[in-house]
Amino acid sequence: MDAPWHAIAATGELGDNAMRAFEIDGERLLLVYADGDYFVVDEMCSHEDYSLALGCIKGRRVKCSLHGSYFDLASGAALDEPADTPIRTYPVRVADGKVWTRLD
Ligand code: FES
Repeated sequence: MDAPWHAIAATGELGDNAMRAFEIDGERLLLVYADGDYFVVDEMCSHEDYSLALGCIKGRRVKCSLHGSYFDLASGAALDEPADTPIRTYPVRVADGKVWTRLD
């Protein structure tokens, strides 16, 4: 059975290049609105235990502010050292004026 969808924000709640950390079932996640799309990824950097919510958005990438690695918001790929492990990405849909995600 598929995991349930969770409403995590109202559409329009986040401005462009904005992000917000949240939790579902103890999982620390990050909602990002960038380049006209919503993305949900792991909140914590894969390099060390540091919140990507403290970083910044550049196009469709999030930059970790501790050591400067970039991650692709769509694929989760680590684009620069020192991080060499992707972060997880989660499905997103927009419906009924809300942004939804689920833990697959
Ligand atoms: S903790 Fe994110 S790049 Fe090092």
